[in-house]
Amino acid sequence: MAMSSSTIDVRPISGAVGAEIHGVDLSSSLSDDLFAEICQAYDDHGVIFFRDQELRPEDHIAFAERWGDININRFFTPVDDYPMIAEVRKEPEQKTNIGSRWHTDHSYDQVPAMGSVLYALEVPTKGGDTLFASMAAAYDALSDGMKSALDGLEAHHSSRHAFGLNARQMKSTHGNDQAYNNPDLATQDAIHPVVLTHPRTGRKGIYVNGDFTTHFVGWTRAESNPLLEMLYSHATEPRFTGRFRWEKGSVALWDNLAVQHCAVNDYQGERRLMHRITVEGTPLT
Ligand code: SIN
Repeated sequence: MAMSSSTIDVRPISGAVGAEIHGVDLSSSLSDDLFAEICQAYDDHGVIFFRDQELRPEDHIAFAERWGDININRFFTPVDDYPMIAEVRKEPEQKTNIGSRWHTDHSYDQVPAMGSVLYALEVPTKGGDTLFASMAAAYDALSDGMKSALDGLEAHHSSRHAFGLNARQMKSTHGNDQAYNNPDLATQDAIHPVVLTHPRTGRKGIYVNGDFTTHFVGWTRAESNPLLEMLYSHATEPRFTGRFRWEKGSVALWDNLAVQHCAVNDYQGERRLMHRITVEGTPLT
């Protein structure tokens, strides 16, 4: 019987998406072989998690840089002295959190970011989990008729309604106390295929999301909305999802082309503080 040469212990968290990786210290320098195993798990599961990590900002940056160039976030508050690291913070008195709707980060960019390395510094005593959904599993489960209807369809994505001036006004009117910076920089618009072929795995996946997709190319918003809403609710059916329970020192790295995610806002009165580094992606095909 062939012996596995794997040095890491990969434990899936659900049937469709996500795996915890045990046996890795991300603050150490990772050999190329070990890094290749981690990459394989990332491609196999769409999002990977590590427990009990102690990362200085420099370690966090060094790990993120193994994956690609770092994207400096335009809208999130940076960590003091580390502009490459964005804070994902909710204070006990804040009612709203960042990322509470299902979404794919940066789909408004012409070249969307590959993914983010999120590191937990403070977690609530209960709640504050993050949900992930596999866009490939969701695509595979569509009927052949729907797959053909989506074939060749493209959609507009934008940052304007989410991070621009109007968004800030809407949010304060609706009691949203999460402040984003630089609303004047929310000028990104992009058109992407509704179904992507993943550049590394070759799997097809749904690529529209409720935060940033506005409408299909050549369709009005009114025409687009019913089909978009159907795709959002289909893509996040429980059978395509996995749920990650954070602990202090947990790390997640997700692939924006493979998954959507949603940060559950169920820990009122408690602090949750994460450091996020986003890695640049490559042009979509
Ligand atoms: C995000 O959407 O980047 C935030 C995810 C989280 O806080 O769990």
